[in-house]
Amino acid sequence: MIPVYLDYNATTPVDPEVVEAMLPYITTSFGNPSSNYSIGRENREAVSRAKQQVAALINAQPEEICFNSGGTESNNHAILGTAFAARGRGKHIITSAVEHPAVTNVCRYLATQGWDITWLPVTRYGEVNPEDVENAVRPDTVLITIMHANNEIGTIQPVPEIAAIAARHHVMFHTDAAQSTGKLDVDVKAMGVDLLSIAGHKLYAPKGIGALFIKQGTEIDNLMHGAGQEKGLRPGTENVIQIVALGKACEIANSNLAENQRKMYVMRERLLQGLSSSLKHMTVHTDPDNSLPNTLSIAFPRMNAYTLTEVIASDVLISTGSACHSGITEISPVLKAMKVDQLAAEGTVRISTGKYTTGEEVDHAVQIISQTVLKLAAGSY
Ligand SMILES: Cc1ncc(COP(=O)(O)O)c(C=O)c1O
Repeated sequence: MIPVYLDYNATTPVDPEVVEAMLPYITTSFGNPSSNYSIGRENREAVSRAKQQVAALINAQPEEICFNSGGTESNNHAILGTAFAARGRGKHIITSAVEHPAVTNVCRYLATQGWDITWLPVTRYGEVNPEDVENAVRPDTVLITIMHANNEIGTIQPVPEIAAIAARHHVMFHTDAAQSTGKLDVDVKAMGVDLLSIAGHKLYAPKGIGALFIKQGTEIDNLMHGAGQEKGLRPGTENVIQIVALGKACEIANSNLAENQRKMYVMRERLLQGLSSSLKHMTVHTDPDNSLPNTLSIAFPRMNAYTLTEVIASDVLISTGSACHSGITEISPVLKAMKVDQLAAEGTVRISTGKYTTGEEVDHAVQIISQTVLKLAAGSY
């Protein structure tokens, strides 16, 4: 039997309709979008259609979509690009303690190059307080970057409130929406963001494709320099096959967002109920009222989450809330920022459902996880 996949926040399978949309561009229609003959034009039109599909999902204009290689590149472009463009005005950036490494490590890099970074604390559920953002703004602040939804615990940040603070102070605002696009209603206008990152492989497109929303008029430098593709902002011959895939994935996400949200949520709640009825001592880190509909971060007492995920891997695929390097368990900075103690963090797993998750899969996963947790806690493994 194939293991039950409950790690949709790590990546998603490619939707068969997305595969189908890509096929012509892998086979017959292989032209360069810059070429002026039919297969070139076809590819140019395909890129342009994909821009409309991505833009429609997030309520942007097609010209505001810049295709790239994924969430990491989007975050790098947004943060480095705005920092470099504004270096004459100031070198202060505000971010939070629970961002993905594709944000934290970019900020750390800028810190080595003379930028000053403010790392905001979070509540026990991993939420940033907009008042802390307001208090952190200085005359030399040029960028605020706070994620939309957290990849480990699912917390949704108060992005519209934070974006409004940024706008009031004439500071650029970026949000990493790699986890929320396709799972939440992402509307760049309602959210009030200047820059927003999208990662294709979190919404049923392949790995290695993403997009950065850049609001018209935003001052941003390039990461790369070359020819004029993507209005010169991200040069290099367009990755048409994957761009088509991302466009199609966004179109599908847009057409069934509410239905998918409901499905993912129902499955998450079934998981939670199943686990909590057999495992009385678990701690749920995920905020039940303010989180991605699919994400569950749970600590099981008296066990190492690594051992748990390894033992169950032939039946259920989930991930840990910590990283194990050379036998030393390093707890995740997200859990640390939420003040989760070392032992609970070591026993933390992330379970994330997706649009293909079924009730039978959830029930099987509950049975396997519960049995294994009880055995591990009793020391019988
Ligand atoms: C919140 C968040 N940001 C950024 C990324 C990086 O995206 P990519 O894998 O497309 O580079 C991820 C992927 O795990 C993520 O969860």
